[in-house]
Amino acid sequence: YIFGDSRLNSAGININIESQWQPFHAGVTDYLQTVYSGSPIINGQRVMSGHCHAVHSPYQLQEKVGEIYWADTQNVQQAIEIAASAFPAWSNRPVDERAIYLERLADLLESNQQELVALCHREAGKTIQDSIDEIREAVDFCRYYALQAREHFTVRVMTGPTGELDELYLTGRGVFACISPWNFPLAIFLGQITAALVAGNTVIAKPAEQTGLVAWRTVQLMLEAGVPEDVIQFLPGDGYTVGAALVADERIAGVAFTGSTDTAKQINRTLAAREGAIPTLVAETGGQNAMIVDSTALPEQVVIDVVHSAFTSAGQRCSALRVLYLQQDVADRMIDLLKGAMAELAVGNPVLHETDIGPVIDAEARDQLQAHVNNMKASAVLLAETPLAADCHHGCFLAPVAFEIQSIKELEKEHFGPVLHVIRYAASELDRVIDEINETGFGLTLGIHTRNEATAAYIDRRVRAGNVYINRNQIGAVVGVQPFGGQGLSGTGPKAGGPHYLLRFATERTRSINT
Ligand code: NAD
Ligand code: ALA
Repeated sequence: YIFGDSRLNSAGININIESQWQPFHAGVTDYLQTVYSGSPIINGQRVMSGHCHAVHSPYQLQEKVGEIYWADTQNVQQAIEIAASAFPAWSNRPVDERAIYLERLADLLESNQQELVALCHREAGKTIQDSIDEIREAVDFCRYYALQAREHFTVRVMTGPTGELDELYLTGRGVFACISPWNFPLAIFLGQITAALVAGNTVIAKPAEQTGLVAWRTVQLMLEAGVPEDVIQFLPGDGYTVGAALVADERIAGVAFTGSTDTAKQINRTLAAREGAIPTLVAETGGQNAMIVDSTALPEQVVIDVVHSAFTSAGQRCSALRVLYLQQDVADRMIDLLKGAMAELAVGNPVLHETDIGPVIDAEARDQLQAHVNNMKASAVLLAETPLAADCHHGCFLAPVAFEIQSIKELEKEHFGPVLHVIRYAASELDRVIDEINETGFGLTLGIHTRNEATAAYIDRRVRAGNVYINRNQIGAVVGVQPFGGQGLSGTGPKAGGPHYLLRFATERTRSINT
């Protein structure tokens, strides 16, 4: 068990202190048998006209977490109509009122934390630590965006020679479609929604197909927090029907999307082809994230950070390390340590304290990753593969694995799972390494390990990446402290959890009064 650390999350649970872990875990297990029934929520009402889908845990495919009704295209039309008519009143409410809803929601997330941890664990296969981190991030988004809104959404008097009263202020844009991925079913789902709402937009939320129940329970809590029923519409369903219908509709003023680069491009094409006003797109997408390690780096620290970066959350983080560049003088030593660390990883039942890595999200993801691993086994050097626990055959597990390859160009796309690719480089080849990373077109996270400050500064300056981490791991950006988001194929910005994020959800107005 090597992922335990002593960080406190914002709700104060440290799973490494037995006296905190035991009662917390007991509270989580109370919800392991609950069977959920989710559905679209339109104007506060449960809607069950679409197909009903059974939800099974990726850890234990026989375990039924519940069922969820998916929205149909008629529901999309109803939701847009309600959200559009609610917009004027909502956008005119004082920002403080909108911010208070977010703060109430943060309190409710905390008071329902054990249920939400259990549900994230069951529906998305997350470990308990990952689930706690997820709730912490969601709480942080609510509180941070509430603070940011109060700061930005005030009237600013512009002084000048006109002799008039000139004021600049921000208002919402209209109806936002918030389309989210399964890997942060609560934090990213809520991060998008809370930003859009507090900026004065009404929202239609479409969660990922795989994690509709976490999202559904979260929307219930939003309504419990007092968010008006006409302001948030919830449409679980298929990306190709519900998501695509939302994006294509001219009444949608903006889209907040997090997911794959291919889907973001598809959405961008749809938006560009629409008649009417030019819509806004905030897209946060994938990466081909690298770490560069030179010969001055501390080997033990490097290996801990590599293992965290590549394998936490079964590698299903957009920030995760995919390609590790090791300077050849130290590569053998680092690889030996890496093999040892990977042998220690505990892969298995994500509800257990000792588990580091749970399953991947579903059988389709596992099979795609397994196909990549099989290709790599035929064409690359297998460095290490962590054994799976005996009970893993009930679920969608993939053994964490590391290969040595020759070039990042061998990877045609992002492989969204616990697969690490290692490349050796000579000190004289640093510029080639940097160029190769930039040529992927992605630009999300970058890790640098060196004790030479000039080297760190040089790599940092030259590699195009949104989040650069020096002498540490490269995952787990903290809201309000490490604003997160990429560039190029990795996203449009602005950064989630940063001071500029809300601005993209708003439009500016100037009012000049002849006093
Ligand atoms: P995905 O692109 O398959 O799906 C994301 C969402 O888009 C889902 O809700 C899906 O239903 C919807 N969708 C699919 N097709 C659509 C269409 N044509 N129109 C409208 N909506 C559509 O991504 P995923 O598999 O859920 O998530 C994994 C990906 O997300 C990875 O590439 C990962 O790197 C990325 N990601 C990025 C960040 C970030 O902050 N940059 C964070 C998390 C995940
Ligand atoms: N924000 C998440 C991280 O930094 C994706 O790992």
